[in-house]
Amino acid sequence: MTTPAEKTSIRQTSMRSHMCGDLRPSEISQTVSVCGWVAKRREHGDRLAFVDLRDHTGIIQCVIDNDVDVRSEYVVRITGVVRSRPQGTINSNIATGEVEIGDCVVEVLRSAEAPPFPVDARADDVDENVRLQYRYIDIRRERMQRNLRTRAKVNSAVRASMERQGFVEVETPMLVPSTPEGAREFLVPSRKEPGSFYALPQSPQLFKQLLMVAGIDRYYQIARCLRDEDLRADRQYEFMQLDAEMSFVNQDDVLEAIGEAVVCAAEAVTGVRPDPIERITWRQAMERFGVDKPDLRFGMELTELTSVFAGTEFKAFAGASSIKGIRVEAKAEEFGRNKLDALTDRAKKIGAKGLVWMKVAADGTLESPVVKFLSAAEQSAVITALQGAPGDLLLIVADEWEMTCEVLGQLRNDLGRPPVHQGPYRYVWVTEFPLFVGINKETGQPKPGHHPFCQPHPDDLHMFESDPMSVRSMAYDLVLNGWELGSGSIRIHEPDMQRRVFTALGISEEEANRKFGFFLKPFTYGAPPHGGFAFGLDRLVAILAGEDNIREVIAFPKTQSGQDPMTNAPTRAEPKQLEELGIRVLPPKA
Ligand code: AMO
Ligand code: AMP
Repeated sequence: MTTPAEKTSIRQTSMRSHMCGDLRPSEISQTVSVCGWVAKRREHGDRLAFVDLRDHTGIIQCVIDNDVDVRSEYVVRITGVVRSRPQGTINSNIATGEVEIGDCVVEVLRSAEAPPFPVDARADDVDENVRLQYRYIDIRRERMQRNLRTRAKVNSAVRASMERQGFVEVETPMLVPSTPEGAREFLVPSRKEPGSFYALPQSPQLFKQLLMVAGIDRYYQIARCLRDEDLRADRQYEFMQLDAEMSFVNQDDVLEAIGEAVVCAAEAVTGVRPDPIERITWRQAMERFGVDKPDLRFGMELTELTSVFAGTEFKAFAGASSIKGIRVEAKAEEFGRNKLDALTDRAKKIGAKGLVWMKVAADGTLESPVVKFLSAAEQSAVITALQGAPGDLLLIVADEWEMTCEVLGQLRNDLGRPPVHQGPYRYVWVTEFPLFVGINKETGQPKPGHHPFCQPHPDDLHMFESDPMSVRSMAYDLVLNGWELGSGSIRIHEPDMQRRVFTALGISEEEANRKFGFFLKPFTYGAPPHGGFAFGLDRLVAILAGEDNIREVIAFPKTQSGQDPMTNAPTRAEPKQLEELGIRVLPPKA
């Protein structure tokens, strides 16, 4: 028996002395035992075979007697002596490439069927449904092992940072009432009360606020959240948030605490502590990047041109309340007629009335079908404003402010945005989101930008009733490389303010009490000022792991269509189960 102190590594067990990937020339002449899966077997004349043995730390070459029947993915234990590889056979591609194990005794612990795809990088090209159907094999691969371990590192760093900052982990329920957070919920039927349903939590939002009323002061949780949304690269039905809430704070306190946790997580993975996270307001983000999730990794910022065309005779621009442009550097030549038409179609699909393009010619003049409508002064002013140089493509949109921002923001992303995981990590806080966004078509009332419990900006309260759509909120987002990592806000803790917001949203006192009573009543018992935040761990891990789809960092994700090819979920319920729940399933819609 080895005592813990004698172990060569924490992972040493009664079956193995070393991990495959750990063997180095320093172990030469030692007798070692390694366990794992057979990655490859190559026959070598004179009754010998090379077996590459794999565990999650790497691969070690073992020279075995040809009579032993081991094949791909057999689970084996090999005991032998570490020796240096003969001259000329060193493999510098792997960490163990200078050594091999000889004089091997092989124990087959379990034979295996041939795997459905190669258990290495070649599986990256295999249909994702097949990878997910055999996820337990997919995860044997280096990429998936690395991703899941990166995920664990992030979780652990985040946890440690939150604990250092005095946050207390509290678990909140998974069976909850329906809440007003905006996403479609998963419902769970109640057996005891047929016809009644629990919802699965979109987030712990309500409970974490109640924990502030309850005096927990600083709460956090690595929380599972569930939303029945259409799935995309950055969205799953189930995902994990670092969820936090703090009492007696202002916005700076929250941003500092969460920023610290994110920075610690990034450092744990990359070894580099990111700079303090910069901040811009929502309005600045829209003005400069045209989107509320700005990707700061590249330029091509939106330029204000309204004053350039103030007195223009060009119909499309005359009288427009907002005109903006972007400069696509050195792309004039690349964009022929077809590509320009496609760009115009794309702009129109987003909602633009049209798109003006201009190319800066070698002599510094403009080439564009609309140039004849522009005065010489306008032409030179537009080049100056956009800093156009020969070979540049200039794109201009005139519309309402929101639309010029949106169209050019999207085109900027289409034309310049690298894959999310590539290049530097550019974190940015976006603050002062509008309190209300758009109008609810059914009620004619404004819709909450974040949720109805978000504090309006104190400097805008004077126009709360007269111009609600211009009121800013104390809501903020954290953005990384153009992905929304998380959101949060300072919450309303005074009933008067809450009533004003409900009134603006067209929610009557009766409706508020019926819908949110269980949440509002506790606030009458002494709610401290509080605020919080939640960020998507899957998204942060994906970017830090160099992936651009969160499925790659989730052990058992759902496909784009919401299925799990491994377990076949979702599956039909047994009639008996439905009976018990008082549920009758309608025939499928024609
Ligand atoms: P929000 O709804 O913005 O805020 O969600 C916070 C973060 O959770 C992640 N996220 C998702 N990740 C993967 N798949 C999804 N379907 C998905 N939906 C959301 C995102 C997002 O930024 N309770 C508030 C937070 C608060 O105010 O404290 C909330 O949940 O990274
Ligand atoms: P029209 O006057 O509609 O024939 O448009 C002339 C050119 O201006 C076309 O290239 C349109 O795509 C473009 N255009 C029209 N409306 C706008 C607009 N609001 N913003 C930018 N370009 C526009």
